Parts: sequence; structure tokens; C-alpha cells
Amino acid sequence: MVPSATVYAGYTFVMPRSSDDPFASCSDRHGTGSEKWDRYADRDVIPVWVADMDFSAPAEVLAAIHDRVDHGVFGYTHEPPGFRESLAAHLLRRHEWQVDPARIVATPGVVTGLAITARLLAEADDEILTFAPVYPPFLTLPGLAGRRCVRVPLLQHAAEWAIDFAALEAAISPKSKLLWLCHPHNPTGTVFRTDDLVRLADLTHRHGITVVSDEIWSDLLLDEDHGGPEHVPFASLDHPAARAAITLVAPSKTWNLAGLGCAAAILPDAALGRRWRIAGGGLVPMVNPLGYAAAIAAWEHGDAWRRRLIDLLRHHRGLVQDAVAAIPGLSCVPADATYLAWIDCRASGVADPQAACEAAGLGPSDGRDFGAPGFIRLNVACPTDRLVEVLARLKRAFS
Ligand SMILES: Cc1ncc(COP(=O)(O)O)c(C=O)c1O
Repeated sequence: MVPSATVYAGYTFVMPRSSDDPFASCSDRHGTGSEKWDRYADRDVIPVWVADMDFSAPAEVLAAIHDRVDHGVFGYTHEPPGFRESLAAHLLRRHEWQVDPARIVATPGVVTGLAITARLLAEADDEILTFAPVYPPFLTLPGLAGRRCVRVPLLQHAAEWAIDFAALEAAISPKSKLLWLCHPHNPTGTVFRTDDLVRLADLTHRHGITVVSDEIWSDLLLDEDHGGPEHVPFASLDHPAARAAITLVAPSKTWNLAGLGCAAAILPDAALGRRWRIAGGGLVPMVNPLGYAAAIAAWEHGDAWRRRLIDLLRHHRGLVQDAVAAIPGLSCVPADATYLAWIDCRASGVADPQAACEAAGLGPSDGRDFGAPGFIRLNVACPTDRLVEVLARLKRAFS
């Protein structure tokens, strides 16, 4: 291991690095149709908005994709042998959650899965509850399905974001049919603890509300190997609300596979699978064969790479915390999970933080899209030297 040092704002950060470090550099994504990089294609703006990483997928995943390509035939494909079993084994290994593979259905995206639940489990004008701020599709998809989104604000404390159970209870009406839980939570990075999940289970059960838990970030917990919180799948609780819940997962965040369109829903029972497909209404395509190959390889062989990634992300979280602390008017509750930093800029005196960042050469996600004007979200999944430049530009934006 060769230690490498980065200097930012007077601090020196040392990161152990070896020559085979998969996160030391990354390919140029210009010209690949990258949503993230194309937004600012002609400007000196570093994109740190949409949640994909700038790293190549692990070698084991690339090899599995190559193997599938070598087969040469790409006809209509449903869940190939091993897909459901490989996910079930992953959930057991990672989260001690025993899932009958028959309850798993593939879906091309977690967002698609959310949209299906709106149509499957709620009627026109029914309400879908969610905690805000939140990943934008949670706010927009209910309306697109003719359902109503009811936002319940999270409580912001200095050291954590928390569920406001009184506000949740007050928001519930006879029309409330679903609670869309984002767990771990995007954008705050909060991992909800078991006590909170049980309270949620009690409350939703009492009101006949089905929980749909988006757990796409559940393999990127930053502190679980250091005594920090672990991810408890909502549906793994021993509770009737958990047995009725739907869980959405994907390998896409953890192993950077979003463009391959492969996710999965874990349904309360196998019979719901048929209705699930019908609710797609002919609009939802089958998952593509390369997505399946990549997902299976990631779940089965991706753990060593995942752990190294988490080491890097913890380091990056520290860099962001130090940088934010040194900029007057900015604050950020450290994330338990994800590669996101949710920064409160409201005390900075800068009226439009997004515009200020872009003027300083930085392209974060705008808090307004998450229901939180005055915030920005940074994606820190890039090589460390790029992150150091990102943080220098952040400082410039608020100077
Ligand atoms: C909470 C959450 N759910 C879903 C998605 C997107 O999932 P997919 O690409 O599988 O639709 C994201 C992407 O950032 C996310 O953060």
C-alpha cells in the first residue's frame, strides 16, 4: 500500500492506496450518453448531481456481462435461473433476511416498481404518504398515476434527521393507502433504526396502510463494520405490517449498474406477482439479459469491491464534513449510508445555492427538487482528487 495524501483547505488527508485501486481514477464519460456529464457538457462544471458513480463496475461483473454477450442470443428474457436465488442469498447474507425466492419479481427499475405499487395498491385520488425531503420521484410519481402525494416533513436536528410520528399520524386520512419509505433515506443518508421501523409498522398497520420500502441504498452503509447502524429491512420485522410490505432493491447504486436497468421487488406473496405484471399495463419492458447477468454477478461476487468502495466513501464523507464545517452558513448531518451529502445552505445568505454552485463550476442536485429549497445534494462517488476540487469549488460558491 502506498499512502497518498490530498490537501484541502489546510488539512492533509491520507488515503491508503495501492496500484490496483479501482477508485483512483475513472474513464472519461463524455460521448457515452451519460446523463450526469451531458448536463454541463460544454461548461467547466463538475457534475455531482444524479446518483451514479464515475467508477467502472467490478471486474467480476464485467466478466459476467462479457460471458453473456459471448452467448450471442438476446431474445425475450425473464428471470434466468439463479436470479431470484442469488438475490435471496444476498439478502440472507447481508441482512439476515430469509426470503422465499418465489416472492421475487424482476423490474427494470426501482422507480418503475414504485410506479407499479401506486397503480396496484391505491385507487385514483388515494393518498401516498412519504417523508420529505426525498428523492424527487417519490414526490412526482403519485400525481402521474392520478394518486395524491402527502408529504410528511422529517425533523431536522443538529446530528440527525428523524421521523415526526405526530406529523405522520396527523397526515393520515381514510384515503391514505401507501407509505413510500426511502430506507436508507435519499437525500439525508439516514438509516432508520429498528425502534422507528416498529413504530412505523404499528402505525401503518393500525390504519390499513401498506408500506413500500425502497431499499436501493441498503448495501452502502458506511459504519456497519465500525459499530454503526446496520440496515434492517422493513419487511424483515416480525410484524403483520412487515408481512404485507413490498421491498424494492437493486444492485445499481452499489455496483454502479443503473444504465443496465435491473431491479427487483420482494412481494408479500408469490400470487401478487401476476397482478404486479398486469399493473405494468404493457408499458414496463422486460429486464434485459445483460442486466440480469450483471446483477447476479454483483450479488454473488461483488462484496470485496463493495467493502473497498465503502472505505473510500467513509473517507469522502469526512472530507465533506470538514469542508462544510469550514464554510460559514453551511451544515450537513453526516450520512449513515449512501454516497450523498445533503447540505443545508440556508444560513449562508446565498439566495440560490444551486445557481451559486453552478457559477463556481459545480453541478449538485438542487434541493428544490427534493422539496427543500436552500439545500443542495452532492454526489461524492468520484476519485478523491476530483472530490478535493469539488470541495474547493463549493468553498468558492459560498465565498
Ligand atoms: C431512493 C432511490 N430510489 C430509486 C432510485 C432509482 O432507481 P432505478 O434507477 O432502479 O429506477 C434512486 C436513484 O438515485 C434512488 O436514490
